Amino acid sequence: MSAYLLDRFPHEGTRMLSKDPLLRTQVGIVGAGPAGLLLARILQLNGISSIILERRSREYVLARVRAGVLEQGTVDTLVQYGAGERLQREGLPHTSVQLRWDGKRHEIPIVGDNGRRMTTYGQAKIVEDLILLREADGLPIHFDTEVTGFEGIVDRPAIHFRRNGATGTVACDFIAGCDGFLGVSRSYIRNFSEHSYLKEYPFAWFGILAEAPPCKDISGFAHSRRGLALASARSASITRHYLQVEPDFDIATMTDEQIWDELDRRFDDGSGSRLNRGPIIEKSVARLRGFVCETMQYGKLCLAGDAAHIVPPSGAKGLNLAVGDVRVLAESIRRLLKDDDSSLLARYSEICLRRIWPTVHWSCSMSEALHRFPQQSEFDTRMQYATLNAWVSTDHGRARFREATLGLPFEI
Ligand code: FAD
Ligand code: DHB
Repeated sequence: MSAYLLDRFPHEGTRMLSKDPLLRTQVGIVGAGPAGLLLARILQLNGISSIILERRSREYVLARVRAGVLEQGTVDTLVQYGAGERLQREGLPHTSVQLRWDGKRHEIPIVGDNGRRMTTYGQAKIVEDLILLREADGLPIHFDTEVTGFEGIVDRPAIHFRRNGATGTVACDFIAGCDGFLGVSRSYIRNFSEHSYLKEYPFAWFGILAEAPPCKDISGFAHSRRGLALASARSASITRHYLQVEPDFDIATMTDEQIWDELDRRFDDGSGSRLNRGPIIEKSVARLRGFVCETMQYGKLCLAGDAAHIVPPSGAKGLNLAVGDVRVLAESIRRLLKDDDSSLLARYSEICLRRIWPTVHWSCSMSEALHRFPQQSEFDTRMQYATLNAWVSTDHGRARFREATLGLPFEI
């Protein structure tokens, strides 16, 4: 990467950038989450330079917990681009999903054609793997660097940023907005709000990470009158569990013992099985929403991942969708910059949306069947039982659950 100090930058309008250091690259990437880091990796392996700008510190990004369940296509993509070595060693394959409701436990097998299955491997590890690979190649990730806005999106893109109180600019051929749901990129897509759709759920997930081995009898989802619970894992000695809570839930109001007791109550199936307890090493709360911005491209700016869409986490799909976007985006950029061919870029939103809407639909269906809603009636509960029952006890329901969990194939 080369850096130039310029005192003038030709772009739409006449703004002078005399005080700003100007960096130059082919693709300016906003955000060092899974989407931005994977995009940078694929571009690098295609001989395309990029700069990643990330507003959080390196430590913060490495410590962020979030996702854990990966589709086969996500695993294959990480392996294909050389980021799958630890994933293949440490990823926990899982070939069924447990669902509990009305105090009873059920299990749905989840194995697809050619051994397609789900893998549990923490998002934090994926992010770490990609960061270490990039750093080992001597390529930059600018942490603690907040993107404040763009210019020249239609012809000569530029990204403005702030770091340590100073401002700077990246001049590039293309901008990838991989800055998550609360990022700045989406607001630069023309008329984005006219093509955006949002659904907010009246609850949140309280997630914990614990130094406790997974329990062999308790995993997956519990629908209970006290709200949803989910038992997952990160390794043979670390578990990840969630409780449905109020949207404004305050972590400080529950002791660790109360958390374990509440998980046990929601998972109770009368068998006496209990989760393995251990020190809780991380706690966080995430609001549940569905959101899609259907216009994912404007000029030389594209959105990928949570910047363009959010799914409620019950389907375990957000990161998997981000990987799908990034595959299409990387190839669109490659054809544009290497072959001067913008035809794939013109179809970027259309291709991504073919995976996004069905996945949003599935994630919302899971949410609506498994959570306790405010003012839920006994009738509503029976309707949820009917949905859950169809998923476990009919061929069609099991096939639907399996295919939706395994995820849609990639077109690119
Ligand atoms: P992010 O991970 O949000 O990354 C965006 C980055 O951009 C961040 O690092 C942010 O700091 C940075 N940024 C924002 N604004 C700026 C700015 N102005 N300048 C510079 N940088 C900026 N998905 C699954 O597939 N499977 C799961 O099992 C799963 N479980 C989940 C469980 C929970 C509790 C939650 C909350 C999510 C889960 N997800 C899951 C979803 C998954 O975590 C997200 O979809 C994923 O993080 C999206 O990656 P991203 O790179 O698009 O966005
Ligand atoms: C996780 C597991 C899930 O099954 C899910 O739907 C969401 C998140 C996890 O392990 O973090």
